[in-house]
Amino acid sequence: MHKPDFDEIIDRTGTHCSKWDDMEAAYGVSPDDGLSMWVADMDFRPPHAVQQAVERIAAHGIYGYPGRHRPYLDAICWWMAERHGWRIDPSWILTCAGLVNGVAMTLDAFTAPGDGVIVMSPVYHAFGRVVKASGRDLVELPLAERDGIYGFDWQAWEGMLKGHERLMILCSPHNPGGRVWTAEELTEVAEFCLRHDLILLSDDIHCDLVMPGCGPHRMIATVAPQIADRLITLTAATKTFNIAGAHIGNAIIADAGLRARFQGALAARGISPGMLGMDMVAAAYSPEGAAWVDALVEYLDGNRCVFDEGIAAIPGLRSMPLQATYLSWVDFSGTGMTPAEFTDRVQSSARIAANHGATFGLGGDQFLRFNIATPRARVTQAVARLQQAFGDLQ
Ligand SMILES: Cc1ncc(COP(=O)(O)O)c(C=O)c1O
Repeated sequence: MHKPDFDEIIDRTGTHCSKWDDMEAAYGVSPDDGLSMWVADMDFRPPHAVQQAVERIAAHGIYGYPGRHRPYLDAICWWMAERHGWRIDPSWILTCAGLVNGVAMTLDAFTAPGDGVIVMSPVYHAFGRVVKASGRDLVELPLAERDGIYGFDWQAWEGMLKGHERLMILCSPHNPGGRVWTAEELTEVAEFCLRHDLILLSDDIHCDLVMPGCGPHRMIATVAPQIADRLITLTAATKTFNIAGAHIGNAIIADAGLRARFQGALAARGISPGMLGMDMVAAAYSPEGAAWVDALVEYLDGNRCVFDEGIAAIPGLRSMPLQATYLSWVDFSGTGMTPAEFTDRVQSSARIAANHGATFGLGGDQFLRFNIATPRARVTQAVARLQQAFGDLQ
């Protein structure tokens, strides 16, 4: 395998990338001397095999309509069996234009305007955005914090439903809390869905990014066969391999009836995959890709240690233990500052663009989310800047 160099500093400015080129407009932090730690992509090159796939296509120079892509489907099946112990059939895979699109198609297929759609807050902000934009009613069930990590709160939640809920969205592993849900917790989710007659949408986009000793991540289909006829699982290679610009993801649906409805939603919107993405994914879901992911996770774990240690040294700041994802969820409530005050220090003094916690919904306002998937030197620099910006708390 080509050895990845995650320490390489790659200048992404001027490439029309959201993370660096939009940060000033979004946070008032200039990319000239600022650090971008918001949008969830990585400042790393993908595996060599992915780059080669793109170069092969470019060398051929023909960019026509793609047809049925068996190696793409086989690669997904291989990856799910090899890395997640989940045996799926190629016919279960429906390809959408990324997973935000997958969420939208699921809402389209299985709910109607006015229906309640449940999320466990705080959670990935696009869920709420899509639910609201499609005229569905966002039902936020607040996660409970126990021993410093998020957990479910079934007892409280039972009394919070109004009866119009049709679908629940599970983020597994959880963004932004970094939780890897256990088999027991996933079984509880399944039982809740059965009790309340809910379709379950499980978004497993972060499934490959589990920190050493914190797994395994389990696909809910493998622990809760009792919900096979109400389950849609979303997966993608884009987060794992840093190819989010390819905008490609999958809904994996075992139940033929559900699958037909999802397919109908895709057809009604005229959605079909582009050619580059499928070849990139087929190259990524490979033994070379697997070795690259193992090296990546080891590197991210090193970043996590540097970042967590640095945050822990600032009185009043606390990062939630990051079991998975590269998105560190930092609690500023111990500073006694308002969100406006601590956010201003992070943006104006530390010159760091980090996601505002309130955008993740209920319970998020005391937090900022920091993306640590960047060369270690930048993580070290971020920690030093934060320690200086909050130096008066020492
Ligand atoms: C839970 C979750 N789902 C979906 C996405 C985005 O998926 P896509 O880029 O395929 O639309 C993200 C990106 O951060 C995410 O965290």
